[in-house]
Amino acid sequence: MSNLQAINYQAWDADAFKEPNTMKEKLRFVASCGLLAPSVHNTQPWKFDISQSQLTVTVQHQLQLPIADKSGQGLFLSIGCCLFNMEVAANRLGFQLCYTIDSNKPVKVVVGLIKKKTKPFFSNDLFETIFKRWSDKGLYLSKPVPTHLLTEIQSFSKHFRGISTTLVDDKKLKTEVTELYLEAASRVSLNKKFGTEISHWVRANTTKKFDGMPGFVNGLPLLLSLVSPYVLKLSQKPLKIQAQADYQKLKSSPVVGFLSSTDQSVASWIETGRAYELLHLFVTVNGLSCAPMAAIVEDDQTSQKLLALTKKNNRFIPHIFFRLGYSNNQEVHTPRRPLEYCLS
Ligand SMILES: Cc1cc2nc3c(=O)[nH]c(=O)nc-3n(C[C@H](O)[C@H](O)[C@H](O)COP(=O)(O)O)c2cc1C
Repeated sequence: MSNLQAINYQAWDADAFKEPNTMKEKLRFVASCGLLAPSVHNTQPWKFDISQSQLTVTVQHQLQLPIADKSGQGLFLSIGCCLFNMEVAANRLGFQLCYTIDSNKPVKVVVGLIKKKTKPFFSNDLFETIFKRWSDKGLYLSKPVPTHLLTEIQSFSKHFRGISTTLVDDKKLKTEVTELYLEAASRVSLNKKFGTEISHWVRANTTKKFDGMPGFVNGLPLLLSLVSPYVLKLSQKPLKIQAQADYQKLKSSPVVGFLSSTDQSVASWIETGRAYELLHLFVTVNGLSCAPMAAIVEDDQTSQKLLALTKKNNRFIPHIFFRLGYSNNQEVHTPRRPLEYCLS
């Protein structure tokens, strides 16, 4: 898909990135990488305020999804993903990112750059991957994921306070988790309000908008992508079809997993988002595909059952669920607001 010429995809153009000189230019560079992060329904719930010495990320609470993301978990996971991209960009410039979270509404993350003192816990080659990462929502190949990669992914948790990684590649257990996902997705498909909400974020393949999800990310041809927002408003049928399609996609994926912590808090969700983005960039460097699938963790019943199935202590709360695998699917990107549009 050579959609990167259009203005709403230009944020992905790595060649447009110039070596920054002043601290303000460096902070702009860092923010431009942050905005390429994944976000729930591609809402991009961030605004940046860049001064001579610091960058403030202000959470756009009005972009929280009232139905799909009642608690705000998805909103703050997305902010965490944005923050991790910024850490990788800062590292590229020879800096470490330091930040504090101001939890008063609107939540703000105040970011500064300090000269690198220690070696980062992530590899330098993650930087180029910021521009290649995408949520691959297609079917994956049955080719297994090498154990050494799974072991490495598992080891990332120690860098993120209170975060635990669970990966499932055992066929029987994966089948049970997949069935559980179908239970959650089927419940979602009965929720008329979910259909109406998502209809506002589903876009035609030719969209000129700077946010949302063009139909091609789910394999829709142009005509279907044009009508899908309207159909989603009128009928539950597309969500039922989507639940079955997601079930098949999970079945095709050799590995599923989730990140959890022991509390539901802004800090924990942001930390989980950082950990997820490291995982997504790392698997992309290693030629793998990855996609988050929220339904199973947004549903209290299936979330509990997921812990029981995977024999995880029920003190934990799963925050983000995903699948991993190799694929032959063509890399496609979703639109992004250019930096100028994200400045407050
Ligand atoms: C917290 C979170 C939850 C997500 N949940 C889902 C999901 O349930 N289903 C899905 O298809 N995509 C999900 N996504 C992926 C987003 O749709 C995707 O990140 C967004 O459209 C931007 O596209 P990109 O990741 O390819 O850049 C999720 C992303 C995040 C950050």
